[in-house]
Amino acid sequence: FTVKADKIYGEIAPTMYGVFFEDINLGADGGIYAELVKNRSFEFDTPMMGWVEQKQNNDQGSLLVINQSSVVSSPNRRYLRLTSKADAGYGLLNEGFRGMGIKKGEQYNFSVLARQGAGSSMPLVVELVTAKGEKLGSATFTPAGQEWKKYEVSLTATDTDPKARLRVLAQGKGAVDLDMVSLFPKNTWKQRPNGLRADMVQLLADMKPGFLRFPGGCIVEGRTLDERFQWKKTIGAVENRATLVNRWNTEFKHRHTPDYFQTFGLGFFEYFQLAEDIGAAPLPILNCGMACQFNTGEVVPLDQLDPYIQDALDLVEFANGPVTSEWGKIRAEMGHPAPFNLKYLGVGNEQWGEQYVERYKIFEKALRSKYPDLKLITTTGPFPDGPEFDYLNKTMRSLNADIIDEHYYRAPEWFQENATRYDNYDRKGPKIFAGEYASQTVAIASPDNKNNWKGALAEAAFMTGLERNADVVAMASYAPLFAHEEGWQWTPDMIWVNNLQSFGTPNYYVQKLFSTNVGTHLVPIQRNNANVTGQDNLFASASINQKTNELILKVVNTSGKAQDGEFVLEGVKSVQGKGTLQKMRSSNLEQMNSFKEPMALTPVQQSISVKNNRVKLSLEPYSVNIIKVKAS
Ligand code: AHR
Repeated sequence: FTVKADKIYGEIAPTMYGVFFEDINLGADGGIYAELVKNRSFEFDTPMMGWVEQKQNNDQGSLLVINQSSVVSSPNRRYLRLTSKADAGYGLLNEGFRGMGIKKGEQYNFSVLARQGAGSSMPLVVELVTAKGEKLGSATFTPAGQEWKKYEVSLTATDTDPKARLRVLAQGKGAVDLDMVSLFPKNTWKQRPNGLRADMVQLLADMKPGFLRFPGGCIVEGRTLDERFQWKKTIGAVENRATLVNRWNTEFKHRHTPDYFQTFGLGFFEYFQLAEDIGAAPLPILNCGMACQFNTGEVVPLDQLDPYIQDALDLVEFANGPVTSEWGKIRAEMGHPAPFNLKYLGVGNEQWGEQYVERYKIFEKALRSKYPDLKLITTTGPFPDGPEFDYLNKTMRSLNADIIDEHYYRAPEWFQENATRYDNYDRKGPKIFAGEYASQTVAIASPDNKNNWKGALAEAAFMTGLERNADVVAMASYAPLFAHEEGWQWTPDMIWVNNLQSFGTPNYYVQKLFSTNVGTHLVPIQRNNANVTGQDNLFASASINQKTNELILKVVNTSGKAQDGEFVLEGVKSVQGKGTLQKMRSSNLEQMNSFKEPMALTPVQQSISVKNNRVKLSLEPYSVNIIKVKAS
């Protein structure tokens, strides 16, 4: 291999490797959003979903859901009236999202909006219990008076249980009204109230992602326009955020998740905050007046697009506007007076056809005239090739789009074959956002897909092609990001979680290897004086990091045989001494990580020697190799 370190041919954008977040597979509610109570405000379509009455006999009391939508305009229409006729023990239990993950010795913060009924002064006991009803912690409080007030108590768990439940029992006779019944671990990410699961955020932070795309994915579109994601309904006080059915609340036989709703406790403010926390540029995607074309494909008439456009304009003000502006003020009131520095905005998720183009043009005109520096992301639909792709790709180029989003859920072989996909893309045209991709080991979104080494290795090969072409590819993200082992609708996924644990798949570690070893500028790497891609099943990219003065080589060997790697480093001062090799390899292409063996396949690091500007090593079978040497 020859690396010409002085022949810089392009820059690598700091946004190059990022993460795609969607509330799919219990990614947000039941996942990274650390709320443990399912249906805390009784707003799911079935108001008592997730709740079970607790009683010894029928005369003990009653639970009544009260819907006050005819008298209040709040989106939180319902509350629960608990009437107890017994001395103790009547109440209700919440089953959590496939149970509640509780850790021994940790503190859990319970809160509720409550008021006593007329003449009642009934205490309540809050208990953490196992599935069999054994107590894991408890606390008592007495709501005071007949006005709604927030009450908070904390409990410390006496044991670890992935399937715990929360019980709220009356102590005596009387009646109380309850709403927003909530339980969070104290140890959320940065210990924030209404916070996120620290282990899951940590996995993202460890990737040092360049951007965070949110909130999806198809949930942006909704199955119908009424069910689309509307960011304005996801900010402000949590109790005023309207619950909405999730687009992934599906009834297919292997994807039966009838309890999948969006509470928006993780809303747009929290998404921006998450992006900031992990050092990623925020990249929101908004509905463009089209529902999911895999579902109803509803569209809003062009002359009724204004509210959608206004949402987009207002979002920029919410993110970046001064605290004196209407939406900037709300951001400040939520605790973030400084702007979130929004630079990118996606118009539509995965739309295709003329309907998209017509709507995009109207968005573009409005957004560009008010925010000329904002970079707009446009879609090419779900197809990486074929007539729909060609039409949109050509049209968006003719409209001088800023950044075109391409999605590919394809077989591992496709990823290897497409490592040259961008070699001949127009350098003067729009930039590319590889916005969703993952190799499908069986078939697109098949429940039998595996996060195995075969898929991850193919993605690594493909990513060398993205990186070699980083002068045109500005962003890339694997998708989907998270999946709960008991509540998923789509495979494969980058990070798997249960109620207590989370682990990165081999695909995660490939992503992390690329995103944490990224240069600032591209330099050529060749083998036998030609593009490496595909030669003896080898794939490679090379960059230099001008901030650290490092030369970074990424070499993927997708063949089953070891290959000699001799790297001649030209165009740098004499390089001698030590470098590092980070290597991921397995002779078993079916190899995966699991809850039992979360680190079965992860990168290992060793030092390598560099003599007279040469590095010599063996590129092991089925391996990803990241070589780093100080360039001067
Ligand atoms: O990542 C899963 C889904 O794949 C996304 O919601 C959608 O954009 C794509 O079809």
